[in-house]
Amino acid sequence: TLERTFSILKPDAVAANAIGQIYTRLEQSQLKIVASKMLHLSPEQAAGFYAEHEGKSFYERLVSFMCSGPIMVQVLEGENAVTRYREIMGATDPEQAAAGTLRYDYGSIMPANAAHGSDSTESAAREIAYFFTNDELCPR
Ligand code: CMP
Repeated sequence: TLERTFSILKPDAVAANAIGQIYTRLEQSQLKIVASKMLHLSPEQAAGFYAEHEGKSFYERLVSFMCSGPIMVQVLEGENAVTRYREIMGATDPEQAAAGTLRYDYGSIMPANAAHGSDSTESAAREIAYFFTNDELCPR
C-alpha cells in the first residue's frame, strides 16, 4: 500500500553535512520526498514532539539534543513507506544497527542516532501534522 511516513534528520546528521547523502539513499530506495524543510527546534517544540517519552530517563537529554542544532523534517511517500524507511534507518541504537543503515553510518551514542522515523501510519499522520500544514505537502 502507498503510505506516507515522517522523517527527521537530527542535529548530528545535519552537522555532519550529510543531508544530501541521506536524501540520495531515500531516493535510491524509491521513497519520494513530498515535503521538506529545515528547522531549529525550541525546547517546547521538541518536548511536544516527544511527549510520549516524558518521564523516561533519557527524555531531558533527548529534548536538549534535538534543540542543539538545525534539523531537516521530511514527509516520505512510497509503497510500505513506514517499514521501508525504518529498514533504511536501522535499529534505534546505532550500536545495534546493521552496517549500511543510516544509524550505523551517521549515528553515534544515543540520543544521537541521526534519524527519526514514524513507527506506524497512525504515528506518521500525527507527526506530519505536528510539523506540516496540508498545503506544504506536494504529492507527485
Ligand atoms: P527516535 O526514533 O527519534 O525516538 C525516540 C528517541 O529517543 C530515539 O530515537 C533516541 O534518539 C532517543 N532514545 C531512545 N532510547 C534512548 C536511550 N535509552 N538513551 C538515550 N536516548 C534514547
